[in-house]
Amino acid sequence: MLRALTVTAEMLRDGKSVPAPIINQSLEFTKNFMLVCHHSKEEEALFPTLESHGMPREGGPIARMIFEHGVAKDLAAKMEISAAKYLQTNDAGGLIMDIQNYVEHVSSHLTKENFRLFMMADMILKADAEKVGKNLEISEQSKLAELGKTRGHYEKLVSDIESGLAPSS
Ligand SMILES: [Fe+2]
Repeated sequence: MLRALTVTAEMLRDGKSVPAPIINQSLEFTKNFMLVCHHSKEEEALFPTLESHGMPREGGPIARMIFEHGVAKDLAAKMEISAAKYLQTNDAGGLIMDIQNYVEHVSSHLTKENFRLFMMADMILKADAEKVGKNLEISEQSKLAELGKTRGHYEKLVSDIESGLAPSS
């Protein structure tokens, strides 16, 4: 998905126009899948479990990740405003910058999680890792149910966006 956003920003930078449905689908993914599912999965399921296994909430990686989730939310909100502006006025300057900021922030966040937090989590949780994995899945499912969506919906959304962005031959 970050790749699709990057391609969108590149197209806009090249002066190409990006159709409204692509922009709207990207925002829907960002807002619902990333913010609702990714953030709450970690904040409601993973982090409390790590805390109960002794990882402090304050001053450590958990606090850092929660802070970064807040930043992602703010950057996504900015991107939504600049996207609305682009769709109304065709002025892509703000949107290009906001997409770049969002993509940079979220990729560095995901890298930190994948290479540091999740490795620490595996060590801390050891035997419980499988149970925690299940809880994370349950949390994601319940958030998706609240949204009335499925993981398949978001997988298809990403592939629709990517094929919508693919250069037509
Ligand atoms: Fe996260």
